[in-house]
Amino acid sequence: MNNAIRSIKGTHDILPEDSKKWQQLESTIRKITHQFGYEEIRTPIFEKTGLFSRSVGEDTDIVSKEMYSWEDRDGSSLTLRPELTAPVVRSYIQNSLGGKSPLHRLFYIGPLFRRERPQKGRQRQFHQCGVEAFGSPHPEQDTEVITLAYSLLSQLGLTNLNLKLNSIGSPECRLDYRNALQDYLRPILNELSETSQKRFESNPLRILDTKAPHEIDIIKNAPSITDFLSDEDQAHFNLVQSFLNQLDIPFTCDPTMVRGLDYYTRTTFEITSPTLGAQDALLGGGRYDKLVETLGGKATPAIGFAAGMERILLALEVEDSFESHDSTDIYIVCLDDSGLSVSIDLANQMRQAGKSVKLETLRRSMKAQMREANRSGATYAFILGENEIQNQTVVIKNLKEGNQEIVSTLNIENIINDLTI
Ligand code: HAM
Repeated sequence: MNNAIRSIKGTHDILPEDSKKWQQLESTIRKITHQFGYEEIRTPIFEKTGLFSRSVGEDTDIVSKEMYSWEDRDGSSLTLRPELTAPVVRSYIQNSLGGKSPLHRLFYIGPLFRRERPQKGRQRQFHQCGVEAFGSPHPEQDTEVITLAYSLLSQLGLTNLNLKLNSIGSPECRLDYRNALQDYLRPILNELSETSQKRFESNPLRILDTKAPHEIDIIKNAPSITDFLSDEDQAHFNLVQSFLNQLDIPFTCDPTMVRGLDYYTRTTFEITSPTLGAQDALLGGGRYDKLVETLGGKATPAIGFAAGMERILLALEVEDSFESHDSTDIYIVCLDDSGLSVSIDLANQMRQAGKSVKLETLRRSMKAQMREANRSGATYAFILGENEIQNQTVVIKNLKEGNQEIVSTLNIENIINDLTI
C-alpha cells in the first residue's frame, strides 16, 4: 500500500454502503422539486473564470482564494465551478430561456469545487442540490423557494432546523448603508484584519461576513441594514414574513446575515442545524434581481438557494433518520457446475420480469453461498442442487420467513406469479 495512489485532500469516495443514502436523498430532491414544478438543468463542470469573478464578486473568499483556476492552452482562464447560480444564469441567458417563457423554475444536483481547509462538513469537492426561479420579483416567489427549501429538509426527516431570514435591500439603499458602515468602522480600522482593511474600500459589507471572533464583536454594534431599507424593500420583506407565518414555517430575522456571495438583493436566508458543529449551514440562498443583467442578459428578477448534500447526510446521521431500503429480490445459489447455464437463464428471466437478482459467480460452497444470500438482504434464494438440475426444478426459499418449496423451472410464469415481491 506504500506507493498506492490516494485521493486528493478534501475529496471523498462515495462507497456502495453510502451511495444508497445518496440515491434516497436525490430521489427526495426530485420528488419535492417536481411537487413545486421545478425542472432539472445540468451545466458543465468548468466555466470561464470571469463568470464567477463578475457574479460572486472579486472580494469574496470564494473568488479571492478558493477557486481551482488554470490557464488553458489558448491562454484563457478556466475554473472548476465553485457554485451553480452563475452557471445557471449564464445558461439562462445563452439559451434565451427568458424569451421562451416569462417564468422558469429550475433545479440542479451536482459536484462543486472550493479550495477550503477541509474539516467535518467542509470539503474541496462537495455536492449541492439547489433551485433557481427566474422571472418573478414578487414576495410569493420568495415564499415558494423558502418553503421548498424547508420542506425538503423536513420531509427528509430533519427536525432540528433554524431558518434565518434577512433583507439586504436593493443596491440603491445599500449605498447609504455602505457609507454608514464605513463611518462606523473608520475610527477602528487598524483593529481589523488585513483582509477586512482591504475590503473597507472595495466592499465593506463583506467585512460583516468575517469569521474572526474579535471582528464579530466589533460588528455587533455596527449600524444595521434593516434601518436602511427603502419602503418598497421593507414592504417586500414584510410580506415574505407574513406568508411564512401563514404557512407555519418558523424563522428568525438576522440583520447581520449578508451571505458570502456578492450578487444578492433583498431577501437572503440560511437554514442551519445545531447538530452539525462549526459548519452548520445546511443551505443558503436569496434573491439576485440584478445578476442576469450584470452577466449580459435582459433585466430579470430571480431567487434561489443551494444545499450542501454532504451536510444534509451528516445531519440525517446525527438525527438517525435514514430508512434503508434493501433492493435485492433474489439470490441464485448454484451448487453444481452443470447448473450454471440454468442459473444464468433464471437470472435473465427474473430480471426481464423486473426483479433484482444477484448470481453467485465465485462457485463457493453451499454454506458460503447461503451465507452470502442472507447477507445480500435478498427476499428469496433460488437454490440449484444436483437433484434440482436433473429434475429441471429449483428450490425457492423465502429467506425472510424460512419456508421453501420446489418448483419446476419449465414454467417461469408460475415462478414469477408465486413470488410476493
Ligand atoms: P453557499 O452558501 O456558498 O451558496 O453554499 C450553499 C451550501 O453549500 C452551504 O450552505 C453548505 O451547505 C454547502 N457548502 C458550501 N461550501 C461547502 C464545502 N466546502 N463543503 C461542503 N459543503 C459546502 C451558494 O453556493 C449559492 N449559489 C446559493 C444560491 C443559489 N443562492 C441563490 N441561488
